[in-house]
Amino acid sequence: MLSLTVHVALLLFAAHSALAIEDGLLVNGDFEAPPTAGFASTSEGLGLGDGPTTIPGWQTNGTVELVSAGQQQGAMILIIPGGTHAVRLGNDAQISQDLKVEKGSVYALTFSAARTCAQLESLNISVGPAQASSAVDLQTVYTDQGWDSYAWAFEAQEEDVKLMIKNPGMEEDPTCGPIIDDVAVKKMFVPDKVKDNAVLNGDFEEGPWVFRNESLGVLLPTNLDEDSTPLPGWIVESNRAVRYVDSNHFDVPQEKRAIELLSGKEGIISQMVDTTPKKDYTLSFSMGQGGDKCKEPLAVMAFAGDQAQNFHYMPDSNSTFQRASLNFTAKAERTRIAFYSVYYNTRSDHMSSLCGPVLDDVRVWGASRSFRMKVGVLSLGMWVVVLGLIFG
Ligand SMILES: *[C@@H]1O[C@H](CO)[C@@H](O)[C@H](O)[C@H]1NC(C)=O
Ligand SMILES: *[C@@H]1O[C@H](CO)[C@@H](O)[C@H](O)[C@H]1NC(C)=O
Ligand SMILES: *[C@@H]1O[C@H](CO)[C@@H](O)[C@H](O)[C@H]1NC(C)=O
Ligand SMILES: *[C@@H]1O[C@H](CO)[C@@H](O)[C@H](O)[C@H]1NC(C)=O
Ligand SMILES: *[C@@H]1O[C@H](CO)[C@@H](O)[C@H](O)[C@H]1NC(C)=O
Repeated sequence: MLSLTVHVALLLFAAHSALAIEDGLLVNGDFEAPPTAGFASTSEGLGLGDGPTTIPGWQTNGTVELVSAGQQQGAMILIIPGGTHAVRLGNDAQISQDLKVEKGSVYALTFSAARTCAQLESLNISVGPAQASSAVDLQTVYTDQGWDSYAWAFEAQEEDVKLMIKNPGMEEDPTCGPIIDDVAVKKMFVPDKVKDNAVLNGDFEEGPWVFRNESLGVLLPTNLDEDSTPLPGWIVESNRAVRYVDSNHFDVPQEKRAIELLSGKEGIISQMVDTTPKKDYTLSFSMGQGGDKCKEPLAVMAFAGDQAQNFHYMPDSNSTFQRASLNFTAKAERTRIAFYSVYYNTRSDHMSSLCGPVLDDVRVWGASRSFRMKVGVLSLGMWVVVLGLIFG
């Protein structure tokens, strides 16, 4: 009977997982599957034009070119984020893939992108048919490797959606255009509220897909929609990104994931937490050095309601992080907590790579109730004495 139940459960599980896409790389998400005609061996790459689908797993529109590592791009050698192949999107060109998703769920997309020639290149990421879309700016290169990974989230309005990545640019040089690689998705779940902590996902453990070998973290660009975010509970309310980092490549204060604040006050993350007006609260968090040779000083500006304070990281030989806290009195039923880096830090070994303090384990809790309870018990005791005196 038990085994039958298990069997049915397994079958249900199998049926269910066959429906919606699994977390991880999309079909040929790394563009390493050879097209029917094989990869081009010339240094010119392989233009695909407007013909029928030739990149396995993907549909294309406009000048989409499969590029190879080591290929010449004008005077420079092309950088391929992962493996040996990627795609370049020409002017107004697009790649897309049909995905089976779970209606109503939020999915985070992770992809790597590199700029080529233009100073300002951007990508238009969208999901049809509902057409949620967003422009991801590739203007600032955050790392020395010339490419970055980005995350973007969408809420599935249908079970069948089309994910589209488009270069909206119109450059004079047709060989320019961003290079895309390593496209993955992850279904988001909102972690439960933890006891004695009003902050959702305060340890940042729930977030976008991170490749095991993703040594540079994943950038989280501006996202003001708290229901559709690759970092459940949080929004990135500045026009610059913050970085999602993992413990395989960074020093993370707690568990596996944390946030590295970048770009000074141009990189702000925040959350609205539930509070009781007039009640006293403490906000506390871990902050530290990510182990990426980030040049000190490191400092975090923390906001909670109308309180704001900056905290300097004091290196201690035994630890890469420290706890900091801030007291505040709630003025409303929801209180904004927010963080940014006080300084605009870069790495000591690479001046143009942005870095900053690492933030983790954010907590907000109400002033100790045990104090009020003691007062309560005390006054109850007094009433007993008073009543005893009256009726005694
Ligand atoms: C390809 O893109 C062009 C211009 O953006 C558009 O007019 C056309 O409908 C697209 N074709 C397909 C098959 O989506
Ligand atoms: C990371 O690993 C994946 C899968 O193993 C591989 O395809 C990709 O090339 C790797 N990326 C880098 C940057 O090494
Ligand atoms: C991005 O593409 C979508 C769908 O094609 C379009 O509706 C939207 O206006 C575009 N957004 C930008 C910023 O270009
Ligand atoms: C650091 O660790 C050493 C050895 O474990 C200990 O003696 C020292 O007191 C610690 N220092 C601090 C500041 O905790
Ligand atoms: C914050 O409030 C707690 C009591 O709720 C108190 O113990 C602590 O010292 C306060 N911290 C600061 C920095 O004022």
